[in-house]
Amino acid sequence: MITATVALLVLASAACAYADGSGDPKPTGSSDGEYQDASGNPTFNIGKDGTVDWYTQVGYLRYTANCMQCHGPDGLGSTYAPSLVDSLKSLSYSDFLNTVTNGKKNVDTSQDLVMPSFANDKNVMCYIDAIYVYLRARSDGALGRGRPANSEPKPKDYAAQENACMG
Ligand code: HEC
Repeated sequence: MITATVALLVLASAACAYADGSGDPKPTGSSDGEYQDASGNPTFNIGKDGTVDWYTQVGYLRYTANCMQCHGPDGLGSTYAPSLVDSLKSLSYSDFLNTVTNGKKNVDTSQDLVMPSFANDKNVMCYIDAIYVYLRARSDGALGRGRPANSEPKPKDYAAQENACMG
């Protein structure tokens, strides 16, 4: 009984520490304007004045162009698809990548809800870290609704990388 109570407490405190499926979002490093957390997952960097990193800004635009029609404005969900602001509280970066790459079909509901596979869509896959970082910032409550007003400058090698990916 005591062991069970202790285990529950440990679980509860672990869950409370960060409502973020990838853990602590604090950036510990960056390369070419893309920030990483201690586990090496992509993360956001938002200054005290609200200036967002380049990837968060790109993620907002790409989310709005490719995901919003189903997942609603600012990641908040719709009658058709779930809120990704909520989903990222428990999904890890790899869960996220897996779902966007392979899609997902909920067969348990009366509605036929389908998350398409984006594996062959460069407009999504070339920007997948940016979309993730944007949604992570929204999910962690670090970023409000709408387009971020200011962002860090475009990283030096960003355009070359983008062109290489888009082919
Ligand atoms: C055509 C509509 C549609 C579009 C466009 C779409 N989704 Fe989805 N997505 C869904 C539906 C419906 C589900 C729920 C599927 C289920 O539960 O089986 C879903 C589920 C997800 C999930 C899993 C959520 C969870 O809690 O498990 C993620 C992550 C996701 N979508 C990300 C994205 C991203 C990122 C984009 C844009 C690149 C996107 N989706 C575009 C319809 C869509």
